[in-house]
Amino acid sequence: MSRIFKSILSQSFFILSLTVASAGQSRAQTITIPIETAHNAVVLQADENKNLKNIFLGKKLSDAHEYDFIKGVYKQAEDYSGLLNSAYTPSGSRNLVEPAISVIHADGNMSLDLRYVSHKSIHLNDNVSLFTVLLKDPVYNFEVTLYYKSYYKEDVIEQWNVIKHHEKDNITLQKFASANLYLKAQSYWLTQFHGDWAKEMQPEESRLTHGIKTLDTKLGTRANLFMPSVFMISLDKPASEDEGNILYGALEWSGNFKIDFELDFQDNLRIIAGMNNYASPYILKPGEEFATPPFLYTFSDKGKGDASRKLQSWARNYKLLDGKGNRLTLLNNWESTFFDFNEKKLGELLKDTKKLGVDLFLLDDGWFGNKNPRNDDHAGLGDWQENRKKLPNGITSLVKEADANGVKFGIWIEPEMVNPKSDLYTKHPDWVVKQPNRAEYYFRNQLVLDLSNPKVQDFVYDIVDSLFIKAPSLAYIKWDCNAVIYNAYSVHLKNNQSQFYVEYVRGLYKVLERIRAKYPTVPLMLCSGGGGRVDYGALQYFTEFWPSDNTDPLERIFIQWDYSYFYPSIASSNHVTDWGKQPIKFRTDVAMMGKLGFDIVVSELKANDLKFCQDAVKAYDTLKQVIWQGDQYRLVNPHEQNMASLMYVDSTQSTAVMFNYLVNYRYGESSKTPIQLKGLNKNKKYLLEEINLYPDTKSALKNERIFSGDFLMNIGFNPEVNTNRTSVIVKITDIK
Ligand code: GLA
Repeated sequence: MSRIFKSILSQSFFILSLTVASAGQSRAQTITIPIETAHNAVVLQADENKNLKNIFLGKKLSDAHEYDFIKGVYKQAEDYSGLLNSAYTPSGSRNLVEPAISVIHADGNMSLDLRYVSHKSIHLNDNVSLFTVLLKDPVYNFEVTLYYKSYYKEDVIEQWNVIKHHEKDNITLQKFASANLYLKAQSYWLTQFHGDWAKEMQPEESRLTHGIKTLDTKLGTRANLFMPSVFMISLDKPASEDEGNILYGALEWSGNFKIDFELDFQDNLRIIAGMNNYASPYILKPGEEFATPPFLYTFSDKGKGDASRKLQSWARNYKLLDGKGNRLTLLNNWESTFFDFNEKKLGELLKDTKKLGVDLFLLDDGWFGNKNPRNDDHAGLGDWQENRKKLPNGITSLVKEADANGVKFGIWIEPEMVNPKSDLYTKHPDWVVKQPNRAEYYFRNQLVLDLSNPKVQDFVYDIVDSLFIKAPSLAYIKWDCNAVIYNAYSVHLKNNQSQFYVEYVRGLYKVLERIRAKYPTVPLMLCSGGGGRVDYGALQYFTEFWPSDNTDPLERIFIQWDYSYFYPSIASSNHVTDWGKQPIKFRTDVAMMGKLGFDIVVSELKANDLKFCQDAVKAYDTLKQVIWQGDQYRLVNPHEQNMASLMYVDSTQSTAVMFNYLVNYRYGESSKTPIQLKGLNKNKKYLLEEINLYPDTKSALKNERIFSGDFLMNIGFNPEVNTNRTSVIVKITDIK
């Protein structure tokens, strides 16, 4: 059971105020259920025949009674089935379109009809409410409870369902979506993302045409490698940063997902999102509950910027682990040593960590395996014992040495995986995901462990637990996941193979749940051969994610920009590396727009480069709260112009920081016109200072640097970016 679902269950026993609303606002025999947040509403309605429908999603009306009039002002084509806007579309009865749920009953019948029974709302606290609606089939003893958890201030809704039955025998769930939304507009513009290794989060926008457009993955683990489950839908016209009606959606699930966008024959948009039912019919016993993962969404009538700020703030307040807490700056050794290190080399890197001024040293891949040492990516995964040749004194001694150097110590693991060249593979072939009668097929020379098996869950949990038992002051874990699932087959699941993809992710969450119960806040980085697994299902256990192995700063400007639509900067681990041709200042400036780290050979830095990095770490310390917790404004889009510019503003509008980069190096490219700032107080005066200057250089910003918020937001400010000044950071402070 997921953390969120469990917490909801437990909270509902301590309900402060419980509104059993069997009536809602009732007109004739209809029952209208408005689920409102600060600016928006999702409105459900049970009609005269108790069919539950989506009658509205968007900016809320000031008089909730008027939702009842919406239907009357639309003169669209006949809805033959009466189910086009169903709040949870069943299949096999009157439905003619894509269902949200489909089932084979115990007697083999495949029809389902779901009718409204009751609803209630619970105020979990001042900001969060939980609405539940119970639906039942009038013929079969089968029910679905729809859950809507609303976050008032952030305008976010999480939606999921619990499916249950009391039929005489097992039933088979063939489809089990988390949410079924319904939008009305003149046209619908989908922004989706796609990618591959080192090319994560590539945006694409297109107008939806009639029929179904599907975003999905079937990769099992590392599920987002080619496509993440986040998207945007603009209504009537493509939204911009500050204008337009836009819905953001995301599934909180780290496995296969499927999101269907069906533009129906009435010209309305049906969105059906959930776990992918591909190869996954699920057998449900009588009385057993099947909970779908939450699908979250937010709506804004003020464009993409507003929607992002709501989502980022929701994530920090409610979802991302320790979203309001601290993060550690670090030096990682992956790119500086790869697999080639020993105690002596690491000893030097610990000193370099201190010299650089960051908080922690992160030891990456290659520290384990003896019979099959992890000296490259062909062997060792699964054998989590220190390699005696490289580390004769073990992790414990390294952690102590880090301590003696005044830095913390973190370590890389990839606990869900196994190399065929490992003791684990020899000892437990039945723990490995592979087809019994087919040739093995590898992704990065490795296979996936069967996390549906509780014994494998224990094994994975113990990898983490024993590291902390051995070295209690271990301060950070990078949790990697480098392979997809081929040849999906679980020895443990015997003749229930079709439940494998679902049970794998549930098994993973069970392990993470246990880790978090014992180690509630220790920072964990979510990595998956780059950004192959970034989603809010996982981020409730992780403090940060690795967006991409591509750390070329020019590429990163785009990748980080596109992640920022959905995720707050505090969660984005950005490392300065030797990728790309940019100077160290440019690389560091880009990495500072998130959680700063380094993965460079500090001892080989030129004196001024080292001094620059040391000063940058200090500057970052003074600005990190604004970057992590402030409101983010994307100012100039690098996909559209020759620059990227974005800023973060603290909640009191007294401190802000603006990041500017040239992304087009053709002759004469520069910031020719001022950039209008956002989010400041128009009545305040601000001092603008360029920071993070390379040693012995002076800022080009010589002119008047005190402006009113009014001026900065209406006329703007020119950071004077050009081919000699390709990255410029400006600190903005109010003058009291
Ligand atoms: C993946 C990660 C990298 C690094 C290597 C180690 O590719 O994304 O950051 O940890 O694994 O093998």
